[in-house]
Amino acid sequence: MTDMGMTTRLPGIKACVFDAYGTLFDFAAAARKCRDVLGEDVDRLTTLWRDKQLQYTWLRAAQGRHADFWQVTGDALNFALETMGIDKPGIRDRLMTLYLTLDPFPEVANVLNRLKAAGIRTAILSNGTPKMLKAAVESANLQSVLDVVLSVEEVGIYKPHPKVYQLAVDRLGTPASTISFQSSNAWDAYAASAFGMRVVWCNRYGQRRERLPGAPDFEVKSLSELPAIVGVP
Ligand code: LAC
Repeated sequence: MTDMGMTTRLPGIKACVFDAYGTLFDFAAAARKCRDVLGEDVDRLTTLWRDKQLQYTWLRAAQGRHADFWQVTGDALNFALETMGIDKPGIRDRLMTLYLTLDPFPEVANVLNRLKAAGIRTAILSNGTPKMLKAAVESANLQSVLDVVLSVEEVGIYKPHPKVYQLAVDRLGTPASTISFQSSNAWDAYAASAFGMRVVWCNRYGQRRERLPGAPDFEVKSLSELPAIVGVP
């Protein structure tokens, strides 16, 4: 664990709020399960698909032309498949269907369980549509360890717009300073920090720090380090 400035653990945390894709759920699992068709293109497709998906969220937010994350994810996949010259029959639908039931990262269920048992509220705050998030949560069997699942569809704009982080404050009914936000996306972690949340950046992908407003309180490699940071055994 890297302590990014604080010498003590995060005190007074009432709720832990998690990003979904890349933080709780492994978006790489979709292409990985199509290795029979994609072969060596698996990793490149995952990266291109994800990068384009995020770019489209930011571009649509900047243009004030929101479309939901299911459409954006499909548009990004079309772009990635065309760029890579992949046109195998059925592959697009197969990848999209797999995106609904992505594997959770191995430590997720245990960590959520421990937080909840200690009386800390648990929530998702994600770009995903309510339908996508419901499918992911149910397929990972996490319903009982998540108190609230929040989609940006409630505010009609994507992260990192401050309205998104405000949604969590409003719906959890606790000040930003009592919320610990976890994301593997550095830009999302920095934005939540700039907004006023406490932030544990789950740097699964070994990203460099952003040159953007905000300063995550802690940087960890997996969520298994989170309970100790918020004082949970
Ligand atoms: C999400 C994306 C950013 O779940 O990973 O909001």
